[in-house]
Amino acid sequence: MTQWNDGTEVTAAVSPDITDETNALPAKYFTDPAVHEMEKETIFSRYWVYAGHANAIEEPGEYFTRTVGDKGIVITRDKDREVRAFYNVCAHRGSKMVDDTPMTDPGNANGIRCPYHLWTYELDGKLRSTPQSFEKAGMNPDLEDEDVPELDPEKNGLMEVHLDSIGPLLFVNFAEDPAPLAEQAGTLKEELESFPLEDYQLARRYVSEVECNWKTFSGNYSECDHCQANHQDWIKGISLSESELEVDDHYWVLHYTHDEGVEAAESLIEGEARFYYFWPNFTLNMYGNADGYGTYIIDPIDEGCFQLIADYYFKDSELTEEEREFVQLSRKLQEEDFELVERQYEGLKSGALAQAQLGPNEHTVHRLHRLTQEAYDA
Ligand code: FES
Ligand SMILES: [Fe+2]
Repeated sequence: MTQWNDGTEVTAAVSPDITDETNALPAKYFTDPAVHEMEKETIFSRYWVYAGHANAIEEPGEYFTRTVGDKGIVITRDKDREVRAFYNVCAHRGSKMVDDTPMTDPGNANGIRCPYHLWTYELDGKLRSTPQSFEKAGMNPDLEDEDVPELDPEKNGLMEVHLDSIGPLLFVNFAEDPAPLAEQAGTLKEELESFPLEDYQLARRYVSEVECNWKTFSGNYSECDHCQANHQDWIKGISLSESELEVDDHYWVLHYTHDEGVEAAESLIEGEARFYYFWPNFTLNMYGNADGYGTYIIDPIDEGCFQLIADYYFKDSELTEEEREFVQLSRKLQEEDFELVERQYEGLKSGALAQAQLGPNEHTVHRLHRLTQEAYDA
């Protein structure tokens, strides 16, 4: 049942399944700054998190950076064409090395050089060279130059971050010894790899800061019960009553059929739209009426703010007029959602609600809350 905050702070755990009267994740987990700090470890350092798209760095030497929580990483394509991820942290004295370089504007270099004292690394992370001051002991009266040991390139190289992929979609994991991405993805991996995702190019990116907790937006993305009332243009082309939810361990999919009469483009899935949410903060959006797909990264900034990075992929990175219109409609949909989640968050922040009550059809929201609770408890 709904639990108002009566000062006792009594809440129950998220119900184990959706068939019972179902408790949501207690409201404080959306609004407490300490929870945001905890999630950096319990969620974003333990699960596979989307890093970016392999097509952004097709050539050896290309790289981009990405920040997950407090951790900055650099993703490179090395000389053997292998994609790798490293902490953007110098092995010498820990300086951040590479300036922020988004995937939309990748860098190109034949090595990574730290600007502080110029230690330089190969694209596979090995130390390539150090400046003279590390080879000669000119200022150290106790040492002769020949006593200065050479640094082992492997032992003094960059700290690698586990990287794995689903088709061209790259994911990283900061755990010491994570289970393979395939385990977290389950059947999603094979399903997505059956689509030619690598044939599409990044054509448009929108970055927005939204004033709510990242889980608030995630919950909103995961259901369309709000669509009738709030997305007038979107529902015009959709048979809402024929939508279907599919819930798996770490992902869920919303399927929508397009109304007859909606022009079905040649597309990945003709006449159907599919929205995949992959725990913890990645979505893949497939449109039945456009030959392309989109991704969202739902990056927490603090407990009350997140960044939405919306990327659109089409056959060509130059948009056609039709594609431009399509992206604009999608952007409008995002803005409508931003308004909804900010409004919901204002309510949550008031502290009145201790725990929400989920409805019998809110499987996906329930799954999101369960996974969150499980991550906290692990
Ligand atoms: S901290 Fe990078 S070279 Fe010194
Ligand atoms: Fe929405």
